[in-house]
Amino acid sequence: MPKVPAFHIFPSAKAASTALADEISQLIRSREAEERPTVLGLATGNTPIQLYAELVRLHEEGLSFRNVVTFNLDEYIGISRENPESYWQFMHSHLFDRIDIVPENIHIPESTVLSKNLESYCSSYERQITEAGGIDLQVLGIGRNGHIGFNEPGASPEVATHATELNSVTIDDAAQAFGGATHVPRRAITMGVKTILTARRITLLAFGTGKAGIVERALTPGITAKVPATYLQSHHDTTFFLDQEAGAQLA
Ligand code: PGA
Repeated sequence: MPKVPAFHIFPSAKAASTALADEISQLIRSREAEERPTVLGLATGNTPIQLYAELVRLHEEGLSFRNVVTFNLDEYIGISRENPESYWQFMHSHLFDRIDIVPENIHIPESTVLSKNLESYCSSYERQITEAGGIDLQVLGIGRNGHIGFNEPGASPEVATHATELNSVTIDDAAQAFGGATHVPRRAITMGVKTILTARRITLLAFGTGKAGIVERALTPGITAKVPATYLQSHHDTTFFLDQEAGAQLA
């Protein structure tokens, strides 16, 4: 049965980020008490920056990530890890270089896989998630076009990790960071909607006025490929963490 995700509107993006960081911290501690690893699915973009800052702060207060395994949602194809806009760089500078995670436990799709090897690479990424025990908690952002990861409008819910083309809205949104739309990579590797929906818990962060319309659409009953975030209505435990601006169009 489809179920519209729960949502919480916080006074600020910082408050929403802190609440999600607290949930993640409790999950890590409870799994550690059971001597089991925590498997996190992680996102990039402007939205989760404060979440990662808060996790770093919690680490400085004693939270350990030794028992944490991470899988990032996506990565551009064709840029090197060293490129300042690579998600590898983003994750290391905002989080991984600042916590005690074991480097072997970090998984980010490889940006430089040769075209002929993409399919087997994507299958192996999927297999690694399964072998780690599946994702306990997935962090998502949402694009203005309703994408989750790089699952752009039109994405099928049946597809697991795969190589895909970026949508024009996504390219426009990335243009500034790359110094113009022509420099934005056209392709990416992304977990599929199918992968995302296998996570035991899904959390989606959205902040600012620019996200209000798409958040309202994602939380309106009705699943459509035109708005991939509506696929979250077929997941049993998804919560949106919003600031006042992003939640402004919700009754
Ligand atoms: P943003 O991107 O956090 O930079 O707004 C979100 C997304 O595209 O998923």
